[in-house]
Amino acid sequence: MTDAKPFSWEYRPGTTTRETFHITGGKPLAGSVRVSGAKNSALKLMAAATLTGERVSLENVPGLLDIDVLSETLNDLGVQISRPAPGRLDLHAANVDWLFVPLEAAAKMRASFMLLGPLLARFGQVIISNPGGDRIGRRPVNLHVDAMRALGAEIDYRDGYYFAKSPGRLIGARITFPQVTVMGTENAMLAAVLARGTTIIQPAAQEPEVDDLIALLNKMGAQVARTAPDVIEVQGVASLSGATHQVIPDRIEAGTFAAAAAVIGGDVAIRGVEPTHMGAFLALMTQLGVEHHIEPDPEDATRKTLRVVGLAPGAGDYQPAEVRTAPYPGLPTDIQPPAGLMLTRANGASMIHETIFEDRLEWLSGLRAFGAQVEVLDPRTARVTGPTRFSPGEAEIPDLRAGATLVLAALAAPGSSQIHGAHHVRRGYATIEEKFRGLGADMTHVSEEAG
Ligand code: EPZ
Repeated sequence: MTDAKPFSWEYRPGTTTRETFHITGGKPLAGSVRVSGAKNSALKLMAAATLTGERVSLENVPGLLDIDVLSETLNDLGVQISRPAPGRLDLHAANVDWLFVPLEAAAKMRASFMLLGPLLARFGQVIISNPGGDRIGRRPVNLHVDAMRALGAEIDYRDGYYFAKSPGRLIGARITFPQVTVMGTENAMLAAVLARGTTIIQPAAQEPEVDDLIALLNKMGAQVARTAPDVIEVQGVASLSGATHQVIPDRIEAGTFAAAAAVIGGDVAIRGVEPTHMGAFLALMTQLGVEHHIEPDPEDATRKTLRVVGLAPGAGDYQPAEVRTAPYPGLPTDIQPPAGLMLTRANGASMIHETIFEDRLEWLSGLRAFGAQVEVLDPRTARVTGPTRFSPGEAEIPDLRAGATLVLAALAAPGSSQIHGAHHVRRGYATIEEKFRGLGADMTHVSEEAG
C-alpha cells in the first residue's frame, strides 16, 4: 500500500461572498482587550468528547469558524451539541452512528483528522478523509497513521480516504516520532487512552494545548502523565466518563495583540493571558526593546494582564532581532507572521527563519503593499529591513495568521486600506474587528457578493 501524494486546498467558506476588512490606520491603540480560549486546544478537546457516551462540557470556547466547522462534522457523526451559554459547548457522543469523516470536512479544516484516534479507539473503525496540505506548505499525516498502526490498527489508504480498523481494543505501544508533531502527539494520546496497556510517546510535543488535552482526559478518567518534558505515558483504561473543562487562553491571539501594540504604537492591556505559555515571544519583545509588563488581571485571579506600550511611529525604533520558530518552548510558528511584522519597526536588518513549515513566508510579499522592505531569501528565510513608515495598501489574505498580520500592517498605515479574504481570519480570531475597535481602531468588515 502506498499513500497517495496529498493534494492542495484553499479554504472556501461555502459561499460566493467576498469578505473584506476596510481599515483606516495610523491611530495609536489604547485600552484593553480580553483574549479568547485557544482554538488549537478547543478543537482537540472537542475531539476528546467522542471518547465517551457521557456529556463533556467545555467553557471558554472561542466563537470561531473552525469551531463551527468541527461542530458540524461532529453533528453529522451523531454527536449532540448545544451551546447553553456564551463560550460554553456541551458535547454528548452517546449515539454516534456514522463513522465517516468526509472530504468536505477535511478540506475545510485539517483538525478534522483529530477524529481518527478517538473514533478508532472507541468504536474500532473509522473512514476519514486525507486533510491534504494548505497554504503554509505540504502537511502530511503519515506520523498520525504510523502511530495508530503502532497501537495495532489496520489502516488502508484508497481514493483519498484512510480506512482504519482495530480487530479488538488497541494495544499500548512505544510510539517514537521521527520529529515533534503537535496533532500527531494528540491523536496518539486520544487513541492510547482506551488501549489495553501502556503507551509511551516520545518525543511528545510540549505545547500548552497538549497539556490542556491531558488535563481534560484525566478529568474523564484517563491516566495520562508527562513523565519528562518530551515523554508522555498513557495507561489505557476500559472506558471514560463525562467532564467539565475550561479552555486555556489563546497565546497566539495574545501575541498578535501584543505585536499590534508594538507595531502600531499605543498602550494596550491584554487581559486573560497566561504569560508562562508565552516565554519565547516575551523574550523576543525584550530583545527588540518593546516595553511590556505583566500585571494582575482585574477580573480573573488565575490569569494575568500583558500590558504592551508600543512606540508611536517617529518616536523611535526597536532593535533588530532574529525570529526563529521552533517547537514549544521555542517561538511558535503561528506567531511568526506577527513577530516578523514587529521587525519592520526595528532600525536595521533582521532575519526570519521558519523551521516548522516549508512555505510559511509567502505572507511577506503581501506586506510590501504597505511599504515594508522584505526579501525572501529562500522558502524558509527572509530579511526584513526597517524602520518602515507604513503606507496604505490593498492585499489578499493567503492564510489565517498571515491574514491577521496584514490587518496589523493596515492598522499601522495612515490612510485607507482594504484586506480581502477576511474569512481566513475569522477561522482563528474571535470578533477581531470588535476587539480592535475597542482599542480605538477604525476597522469594519464588509461582505460583498463576488462577481
Ligand atoms: C498544529 O498543527 C497547529 N494546528 C498549527 O496551527 C501549528 O502551526 C502547528 O501545530 C505547529 O505548532 C492545530 O493545532 C489545529 P505539526 P500540526 O504536526 O499538529 C510535519 C494555526 O494557524 N508532519 O506539529 O498539524 C509537518 O509537516 C495552525 O492555528 C509530518 O511530516 O503541526 C510540520 O513540518 C497552522 N507528518 C511538522 O511535522 C505528520 O504526520 C510539525 O507539524 C505530521 C506532521
